[in-house]
Amino acid sequence: MPTKTNGASKASLSNHLGLENEKMWSLNESLNKLLSDYHVFYQNVRGFHWNVMGSDFFDLHIKFEELYKQVNKNIDELAERIVTIGYRPLHAFSDFLSNASLQEIKNVKDGKQCVSHVINGLGMLIGEHRKYAADSDEAEDIVTTDMLTKFTGDLEKRLWMFTMFNK
Ligand SMILES: [Fe+2]
Repeated sequence: MPTKTNGASKASLSNHLGLENEKMWSLNESLNKLLSDYHVFYQNVRGFHWNVMGSDFFDLHIKFEELYKQVNKNIDELAERIVTIGYRPLHAFSDFLSNASLQEIKNVKDGKQCVSHVINGLGMLIGEHRKYAADSDEAEDIVTTDMLTKFTGDLEKRLWMFTMFNK
């Protein structure tokens, strides 16, 4: 079960989309958990972008930037979906940290180690997308399922590329 988000995401609209309240509440909790992990991942990737050193600097500096920009777009779309379905997205870093499963990564500068953390983070996020897409499917929330599926396709492609880099 997803953790309660201390009331910050309490329903502001009641079943206005005609979807089942209980399932949507639970989905909202899951999406806020995903939003929290996305924020930790975003900041980790920014750190890799700034701190990476070595002969792959130019490649990785750019690739990390491409990744965090995409993550930033996903974050905004996800948060606005939470609002659309009638709930409130978390928006304080203290809440993100207490809800996230992903760990903060600090002071890593070796390119392969940075990429390894990116691979782990992407894998974890992809797993969450799949799990929550099953929940939105169950709630007949086809738009959230579609959004999560679209995000997963993009993240999987990036995961493939970063995996090839570290071979
Ligand atoms: Fe930059």
